Amino acid sequence: MSHTLWRHARLATFTGTEPWGWVERGALVTEGDRIVWAGPEAQLPRDAHITAENDLQGALVTPGLVDCHTHLVYGGDRAAEFEQRLQGASYEQIARAGGGIRSTVAATRRATDEELFNAAAARARVLMAEGVTTLEIKSGYGLSEGDEARCLAVARRLGRALPLTVRTTSLAAHALPPEYAGRPDAHSAYIADACSWLPAQHAAGLVDAVDAFCDTIGFTPAQTERIFQAAAGLGLPVKLHAEQLSNQEGAALAARYGALSCDHLEHLSASGIAAMKAAGTVAVLLPGAYYFLRDTTLPPVQSLRDAGVPMAIATDHNPGSSPAFSLLLMLNMACTLFRLTPEEAWRGVTVHAARALGLNDRGTLAAGQRADFVVWDAGHPREMAYRFGLNPCRRRIFGGLEDTST
Ligand code: NIG
Ligand code: FE
Repeated sequence: MSHTLWRHARLATFTGTEPWGWVERGALVTEGDRIVWAGPEAQLPRDAHITAENDLQGALVTPGLVDCHTHLVYGGDRAAEFEQRLQGASYEQIARAGGGIRSTVAATRRATDEELFNAAAARARVLMAEGVTTLEIKSGYGLSEGDEARCLAVARRLGRALPLTVRTTSLAAHALPPEYAGRPDAHSAYIADACSWLPAQHAAGLVDAVDAFCDTIGFTPAQTERIFQAAAGLGLPVKLHAEQLSNQEGAALAARYGALSCDHLEHLSASGIAAMKAAGTVAVLLPGAYYFLRDTTLPPVQSLRDAGVPMAIATDHNPGSSPAFSLLLMLNMACTLFRLTPEEAWRGVTVHAARALGLNDRGTLAAGQRADFVVWDAGHPREMAYRFGLNPCRRRIFGGLEDTST
């Protein structure tokens, strides 16, 4: 097998004890889709059998970015809702009046598979152009058995059509679909149906994890737990949109099910933090939604830090609460709005984001990891947390192969 050497690089490996996992004059050796060696170039093994060589001329190399929370597959947009909110309507008021998520559900159901695919592929390419090599995509705008499966299948197809890795999450428990409204016990009836769809989605290979929206305009903890039980019965890991608009103690519930992550967390309690720490659950912070909804309650970053809960950062790309196309902008917002350090924010879009997806084979530059990495027109990764609106991504390597399409 041929070994490719990527030499004369400045590496932010996010491994070891050095800040940033920094290697000033570093090199990587890749074989196929794996990194087989990473470290100081002076220590490159003499028997490395290099068959191809790239001189990076001192450029910065980081792991590929992982966007671990998106709702990328949907029809339509919510620009008019944005105007309503600017005139004083709240996100909750619009949702309760049948707008919000439900308006995107209507647009998504109207769209053909091809339209959904083309729109989502265009969005994914924008994220890839900034160095995103792994992308999580949730369903949740279909809300019927057929439409949920359709959206998950579109997400899977994106993973086959583009060089990036796509992980899919079933989010049928996102909102009550309009056809259930007015039925007695509507939410409970819908949850029973959503649970019954999971085995077929799983058997068709459409799902990597299961998520729910546990909040006053979403589902109660008891309803959320029924979704988690259905997931656990199939051996699927869970995640949760938790404590975004209010504290429902959803994080503690998710932690009891060994959740990979709890996401949003503006209203997270001390007991929620302790439960997440004990379960090894990642806190996924979403500064785009915080910013776009003009939230004023900050997630408890210092308490998460003190407790040693790993923090990830994602775009939460969706048409309602975070129409964000830039994970690099989220790096900056995580620092300015949430007061993460640039290094914490970077770990949040690499190693911790990978953990939020249950992936241990990426997010750092080390032997055995997938050869997903980015070459930047920058001297140090802190520059990408500092500047905003600039894309200094020069080269993108997906599983050892360079992408030149974007
Ligand atoms: O992550 N909170 C629930 N779900 C999405 C927003 C969905 C929407 O408004 O369309 C979120 O913020
Ligand atoms: Fe979300």
